[in-house]
Order: sequence, then structure tokens, then C-alpha cells
Amino acid sequence: MSKRIISPSLLASDFTNLQSEIEMLNESEAEWLHLDIMDGVFVPNITFGMPVIKQMRKHSKKIFDVHLMIVDPDRYVEDFAKAGADILVVHYEACTHLHRTIQQIKANGMKAGVSLNPHTPVSVLSEVLADLDVVLIMSVNPGFGGQKFIENTYSKIKDLVELKKTKGSNAIIEIDGGVNTTILPKLEEAGAQAFVAGSFVFNSDNPKQTISDLLSC
Ligand code: DX5
Ligand code: ZN
Repeated sequence: MSKRIISPSLLASDFTNLQSEIEMLNESEAEWLHLDIMDGVFVPNITFGMPVIKQMRKHSKKIFDVHLMIVDPDRYVEDFAKAGADILVVHYEACTHLHRTIQQIKANGMKAGVSLNPHTPVSVLSEVLADLDVVLIMSVNPGFGGQKFIENTYSKIKDLVELKKTKGSNAIIEIDGGVNTTILPKLEEAGAQAFVAGSFVFNSDNPKQTISDLLSC
């Protein structure tokens, strides 16, 4: 059994105190840091971009797990590499030439991930799965933190576990949206390995402790 990975999402953090949030995360047991990039077109919300990531990179010791919720992400692959992304996750629904985009991410020295919206079956990844480092299954509709977890996610994880076996894939199965200490063990049981948590971590009284709780639940 591989080690459980926690990827706190900064979306729910205090953006006016980003440096102290990043320092808190440096001291935490989180292995990855999940950065949600939204363009106001693919999703009905806008967050931040490369300049902010570049500044955060100076302070953070963590692996940057960058989740692009933008149309035609291939336009910016090189820019995100330069800004300091370690894992670059694009949406299946936002890429016309997904195979090319995945190769482009790897050619720029990053791990390649693809995210699936709740309505998208895992079978769409069958021909690229062997090339992927991460599959990010959305367990809410992307765009906002603090939404209710979609129960159908469990069966999607199980389908992906089977597809991975068929295709000889080692892709990490990561789940994003509505994750907490009650849901996480069930997701792991279904086969997930990495877990994004935004509001559950940052809305808690002690985010660092909450990250430890997510690792031990
Ligand atoms: C939603 C983002 C998530 C979000 C998760 O579009 O992709 O990463 O920050 O937030 P919670 O954990 O609050 O659902
Ligand atoms: Zn995300």
C-alpha cells in the first residue's frame, strides 16, 4: 500500500497572509500543496496565476500540485513550469489535443496529471493513462471550495483502479472536493492515494493539526 498524500488547497487560506500560511504548511505533514488556477471561462471563478506561484515558490518547501481550471491550458505549460509547478494537472474537458498537452507537460520537466469533472467517465483516459503520473477525480464541480462531496466518486475510483490494471498504469489517484476525515478513509478504501482538502483544513481552528488528522484518520 502506498503512502497517503495530503495536498492542502490554498483556495481556502488567508490570501492576505500568504507567507504565514505557507510557513505553516512547511511545518505541516502535507507532502503536496494544491494550487487552484481558475480563468473565469472554464469555471465561473477567477483565482491567481503564474506571478503568485513564482513568489510562493521562494517560500514553500512542498511539491506544487497545480490544478489548471482554464481553457486550452497548452498555451501556458511552459510558463507554469518556469513559475515552479512540479505537477501540472489539466482538465480533460479543456483540452482538444490531450495527448500532445501531456507530452508537452513532461517535456517541460513536470509530472503530468489530468482531471475529470464529475460527469466525465474515467474510460475517456484509456489511451493516455499509461503516460499519466496523476489522475485528479473531481468530487465536486470545479470552481469553488466548500461544496458538498458527490457520492458517485467512489464508483469512479473503482473503475479507475480497474482501468489502471488493464493499461499497466502507475498514475496516482487524487481526489478533489469536499474531503474530510470521515470521507477520506472510504476514498482510500476504494483505491485513492492523494487527497486535496481546502475548507476542511483552513476553516479549522488548527490547520496544521487538521493535516495530521487527515493523515491518521
Ligand atoms: C474546486 C477546487 C478545489 C477546492 C477544494 O474547484 O479544485 O481544490 O479548493 O476545496 P474543498 O476541500 O473546500 O472542497
Ligand atoms: Zn483543485
